[in-house]
Amino acid sequence: MIIKSADFVVSVSNVKDIINYEDLPQITFVGRSNVGKSSLINYLTNRKNLAKTSSTPGRTRLINYFKINNQFYLVDLPGYGFAQASKTEQSQWQGLIGGYLQNSKALKLVCVLVDIRHNPTKLDEEMVKYLYTYNIPFCIIATKADKIGKSQINKNLQVIANTFGVGTQDIMFTSSQDKQGKERILDKIESVLNA
Ligand code: GTP
Ligand code: MG
Repeated sequence: MIIKSADFVVSVSNVKDIINYEDLPQITFVGRSNVGKSSLINYLTNRKNLAKTSSTPGRTRLINYFKINNQFYLVDLPGYGFAQASKTEQSQWQGLIGGYLQNSKALKLVCVLVDIRHNPTKLDEEMVKYLYTYNIPFCIIATKADKIGKSQINKNLQVIANTFGVGTQDIMFTSSQDKQGKERILDKIESVLNA
């Protein structure tokens, strides 16, 4: 897939507004705060600042929709598990994430991002269990592959795969910094959109 256009459409703070964006299929990124969701959207779309990134966790607090090729939306969800967020904020994020996943009729694929350096967290496991339980199609993407040596990549993917109970072939890895891993992710998105 070649991304010819990528435009920010809207930030949504209330679950009731998500029905306004069901005119096109949606591919959605979830994951722990700071895992690299917004950076991956910028890398995939070849745009530096389309999605706002930050080294401070909790940057993305709203649901952001980006329209790609006038064909589908990439959706950037708030990160979960940011301990320093206030209780009310945290539950609002969880409310937004859960509300989005339950109510988005145009949702075609959830990409669950995990940091390739670490074991998935309890919240990552809960997220995958949730998607599995509600029959929402998902894939796993391991981020920040530039942070470990090449020889370590397959080992870490194996650990992540074991945690989620999937095969290593079901996990893609990427580095938004070194710009690697984009082709497989775009192929996956294309095949889901064409299914
Ligand atoms: P929230 O919006 O808080 O949920 O975070 P996010 O998941 O959108 O993460 P974001 O893309 O803002 O990236 C968080 C930090 O990780 C930033 O400092 C990025 O520069 C850094 N980062 C993201 N992807 C990579 C990567 O592939 N390699 C390296 N080395 N750093 C990365
Ligand atoms: Mg973000």
